[in-house]
Amino acid sequence: MDSILVRGGRRLQGEVVVSGSKNSALPVLISSLLTAEPCFYQNIPDLKDVHTTLRLLTGLGVKIKRESHSGKPSQLSLRADSITELKAPYDLVKTMRASFLVLGPLLSRFGQATVSTPGGCAIGTRPVNLHLKGLTQMGASIELVHGYVQARAKRLYGTRIYLDLPSVGATENLMMAATLAKGTTVIENAAKEPEVTELASVLNKMGAKIDKPGSDTVTIEGVDVLGGVSHCLIADRIEAGTYLVAAALTDGEVVVRGARSDHLDSFLMKLKETGVTVSDEGNAIKVKGSGRGKSVDIVTLPHPGFPTDLQAQMMALMAVADGVSVITENIFENRFMHAQELKRMGGNIRLEGKRAIVKGVQSLSGATVMATDLRASVSLILAGLVAKGVTEILRVYHLDRGYEHIEQKLSGLGADIERLKH
Ligand code: EPZ
Repeated sequence: MDSILVRGGRRLQGEVVVSGSKNSALPVLISSLLTAEPCFYQNIPDLKDVHTTLRLLTGLGVKIKRESHSGKPSQLSLRADSITELKAPYDLVKTMRASFLVLGPLLSRFGQATVSTPGGCAIGTRPVNLHLKGLTQMGASIELVHGYVQARAKRLYGTRIYLDLPSVGATENLMMAATLAKGTTVIENAAKEPEVTELASVLNKMGAKIDKPGSDTVTIEGVDVLGGVSHCLIADRIEAGTYLVAAALTDGEVVVRGARSDHLDSFLMKLKETGVTVSDEGNAIKVKGSGRGKSVDIVTLPHPGFPTDLQAQMMALMAVADGVSVITENIFENRFMHAQELKRMGGNIRLEGKRAIVKGVQSLSGATVMATDLRASVSLILAGLVAKGVTEILRVYHLDRGYEHIEQKLSGLGADIERLKH
């Protein structure tokens, strides 16, 4: 298993380009199952989770053609005109829970699907009850057999669905299912993340009739068939936020090219509260450090609230900030695993249920630490950028799921970072 070595003390300077959004790419690639026509996508990031999704779709019979010359998946065309399989196997779903998103499209277009339940993961139990409840309300008969969801429906029909939680995945699964249902579906308390809105715009380009995507109440009028699409993915706002934190943490000056500030409002407001200068440069965001950051309180909430996917990164910034920060994690029940590792680096962090009390210290010290999940692993890299001495982060396969070429991008900004191949 590879590890990453970081030598602290470098101020980051310069420009970094954000890759396409992981959390857009996964549902958008899966939405190609809804049509027999060719779907062409650009700005697809070269990530482990994207490769897992492509493997899953190939296994179902989707034809995939790389249109980019670099061999990376950045431009792909997918065609689901001869689906041979309606089963998503456990080994793929367990490695990447977003695989569960094939349920809605397969059920809606083919009338049946067998998808392994994703099971929990490091950050929480991550149930799929809201996905299943919504599909049942749309007329699906659903059985749980040997860890698999077996779903059947002659044809799904439109209905009014209220989501107990504004779940991103449930909104995406149900929205995709509703595009080919008979009649109109209304999803209330829908998730409003930019990735959900982007999926809706891709579906509408395919001929779906989705009204007010990105709002609390999304209305989908079912159609009989969907066409192909050509679409360029939005930039990854979480990757962008990660590099902005890196700039603040190292008191540097960094331009994150491709980042859209309208996708990061609450995060950018918080970042400004720490004292850094944030400027919107059209298709880029610039952060200029201002010495030691001030401690701020953080409360993660569904969009447009502070994104849970940037909580671990902000904890690294708060670990060396001036004051005490209370970080409240409302979305996942176990998303503080980076705290233990930051404490090994000298962080002063006390966990109380869904709150972490972070008392800023003058400096962290480099150590060997363990990555446990995607965003926890990047927060340890961030901490390593400012820690005294060397930090080695183990199990960086977590990182490769969601950050394209992170060591190249960070060393391009002046960081002293390298990957050790074991
Ligand atoms: C998506 O996960 C993202 N993943 C996550 O990003 C992100 O953290 C999360 O949304 C919240 O923004 C992708 O888009 C591929 P949810 P998802 O359903 O859809 C509970 C990353 O680091 N819930 O909005 O799984 C659930 O347990 C990843 O890139 C139910 O109770 O998130 C959680 O507590 C991590 N029942 C909360 O809702 C359900 O049926 C939010 O989950 C579904 C969800």
